[in-house]
Amino acid sequence: MGTEFFSQLKCRECGRHYPKKAIHVCEFDFGPLEADYDYDLIKRSISRAAIESRPQSMWRYRELLPIDGEPTVGLQVGFTPLVKADRLAKALGVKELYVKNDTVNYPTLSFKDRVVSVALSRARELGFEVVACASTGNLANSVAANAAGAGLRSYVLIPADLEQSKVLNSLVYGTNVIGIHGAYDQVNRLCSEIAGKYGWGFVNVNLRPYYAEGSKTMGFEIIEQLGWRTPQHTVVPMASGSLLTKICKAYQEATKVGLIDEQRFSVHGAQATGCSPISVAHKAGTDLIRPVQKPKTIAKSLAIGTPADGYYAVNVMRDTNGSAEDVSDAEIIEGIKLLAQCEGIFAETAGGVTVACAKKLIDTGKIPRDESIVLCITGHGLKTAEAVAEHIGAPRLINPSLREFDSLLHAELTAVPAGHRNGQPAIAGAARAGESDASLI
Ligand SMILES: Cc1ncc(COP(=O)(O)O)c(C=O)c1O
Ligand SMILES: [Zn+2]
Repeated sequence: MGTEFFSQLKCRECGRHYPKKAIHVCEFDFGPLEADYDYDLIKRSISRAAIESRPQSMWRYRELLPIDGEPTVGLQVGFTPLVKADRLAKALGVKELYVKNDTVNYPTLSFKDRVVSVALSRARELGFEVVACASTGNLANSVAANAAGAGLRSYVLIPADLEQSKVLNSLVYGTNVIGIHGAYDQVNRLCSEIAGKYGWGFVNVNLRPYYAEGSKTMGFEIIEQLGWRTPQHTVVPMASGSLLTKICKAYQEATKVGLIDEQRFSVHGAQATGCSPISVAHKAGTDLIRPVQKPKTIAKSLAIGTPADGYYAVNVMRDTNGSAEDVSDAEIIEGIKLLAQCEGIFAETAGGVTVACAKKLIDTGKIPRDESIVLCITGHGLKTAEAVAEHIGAPRLINPSLREFDSLLHAELTAVPAGHRNGQPAIAGAARAGESDASLI
């Protein structure tokens, strides 16, 4: 199955067709190549009922993913919860809010498991024995784990100054971790040279057309989990800008193949101010991206100074009536805490970026309070624990004595604001329904 659905690669700029090989740029205009499908055939072949009857993984949208045979890597990836986030909605002063929770994606707790399962399934079809990536951390984790599980040799190249957990979470799988003294852009350039010289399958270089399509599954799942409709607003963190463009592509494809009726939707992008080339371009009303030479933010997973899909991301935001925002490190930490304390979801710094940017977009009226909103929360908080470690307090220490516990509790009950006692975080308790509280972030 499949060969007939995924037809070819196609240049995003000139539309020229290319064979389904490990290539990623057009020879004529250097435009990026993208997977193309026989949508008429897919429309005749799939239905909501057929999809719903399949196992709960991202592969239930198999016809719209770019491999020829059956998937062989990452069969369990995806179909993460779409959480109706009523307490966070109240805190932000909006009516209908959901969190697409990829902090619990399998196996490495980020949305990158989606792109890697497609890239490595395709890498095997193309006969690669060594796979590799340039990564800001999460991609490295996922390539390392999925390559180990598939018995493929792997090399992951990362900036040397990543969070400890991200490094550890690659090393443990026995992959070759190469730390580069430099920013992500320099890592990426080196990887292009290595791919050319050694002929390895770099998931986000020569296998990028396949890899990138995996991100669509986040969009397909949102649609299905909402009862086959698109949310009016989707807020997406941006590094290269690929995930944002692919969520839009998923919404468009679902319409094209008849899974949903045509609906209006806006896609909004979120970045950290310390590395916000896409957000800056969008705000300036241009699609010309000015590279950031020295990213400076705790959101290291989003720190890409020259975003490969930045131009396309700006265009998606413009065409869907979406907006871009960016936030400071302090706002990112408040965003992480707000999500954790309202919904019990611990996100990494990229998640804090998404929550804090969503708050800004709501407060400035770019996202109306009475429309449906999905926040894409893309990685787990334990991966970036050091970013919040000094901002969340510490345990109170006592001896194993009931008397000491009694006096601790007594001191707390007299000191802590009312909101905490009935299980409400003070910040959420302070917000009135229908409006946001400026003290939240
Ligand atoms: C947690 C997390 N969220 C979002 C992104 C953004 O991905 P993209 O490069 O597709 O914009 C990344 C990229 O590394 C990431 O690690
Ligand atoms: Zn071209």
